[in-house]
Amino acid sequence: MNSPLLVTGGTGTIGSRVVPILREAGRDVRILSRHPGVNEPGVQHVGGDTVTGRGLADALDGVDVVLHLAGGAKGDDIAARNLAAAAAAAGVRHLLLISVIGADRMPIGYFRRKAEAERTFAESGVPWTVLRAAQLHGFVLPVVRGMAKLPLLPVPGGLRFEPVHVDEVAARLAELALGAPAGRVADIAGPEVLSIRELADTYVEAIGRRCRRGLPIRIPDGVGRAYRAGDNLAGEHEQRGERTWREFVNDGATLSRRPEGHVSEPRT
Ligand SMILES: NC(=O)c1ccc[n+]([C@@H]2O[C@H](COP(=O)([O-])OP(=O)(O)OC[C@H]3O[C@@H](n4cnc5c(N)ncnc54)[C@H](OP(=O)(O)O)[C@@H]3O)[C@@H](O)[C@H]2O)c1
Repeated sequence: MNSPLLVTGGTGTIGSRVVPILREAGRDVRILSRHPGVNEPGVQHVGGDTVTGRGLADALDGVDVVLHLAGGAKGDDIAARNLAAAAAAAGVRHLLLISVIGADRMPIGYFRRKAEAERTFAESGVPWTVLRAAQLHGFVLPVVRGMAKLPLLPVPGGLRFEPVHVDEVAARLAELALGAPAGRVADIAGPEVLSIRELADTYVEAIGRRCRRGLPIRIPDGVGRAYRAGDNLAGEHEQRGERTWREFVNDGATLSRRPEGHVSEPRT
């Protein structure tokens, strides 16, 4: 038994891909979540809540590295404060945070809270690493799926994403967690910047429907201006994954053809 590496949110979409990589690298892993899973060799689940602080001190006992993935629509700033304080008190040697590209530029609460979480880690006194990631393919999917159900395809002008595959983000996080604290590292994004129209058309094609006429819409105010300016997109120091949106929606492993020839949607 080596010193466990704590992964908050290790049961989530990204966390569940990172944990096996850490195990393959020989690390014992402790996972903190509000709804703990079942222990298996080398993987211990503990219950806790980063936003209320419940269970953090126990979860950090004997831990040298923390990979902080637990997050949600609200409370990421508070969670980071609780975790950073508990990690400093526990003598943790490396705090690693996943953040989002555009954290310090997008005028949206989720992004602002991520920026605050970044600041908290940087000022915690514990050596740290922050990786900003683009939206996962699996995050963009429900957006375009919802759009594709409407009679006219709503097309918010200037809205672009650079979706990245979950496995590429997971591999990078594992690499960082197994390495030395590195501060803010290069953002990770997918290989292409695509307009919402291009993302939707590729999806619609993959599920065997015809592309529909678009209905141009304008995202108002500061949020619209930020998206049109590309403030949600990686800058020049980005690292690009290789797996494209088209591959994702056409992926034979995640798309299953029903007998009548319809295609169901990817799960991740
Ligand atoms: N998905 C994306 O496109 C994307 C892009 C960039 C950055 N990120 C960031 O990456 C992180 C992981 O994203 P994900 O997509 O893997 O999220 P996810 O699938 O929703 O998983 C969230 C994980 O965090 C745990 N969790 C949530 N709130 C918690 C709390 N208060 N205390 C303890 N555990 C908590 C959840 O388990 P319980 O519900 O059982 O607690 C789950 O294990 C998040 O911080 C997210 O903001 C995501």
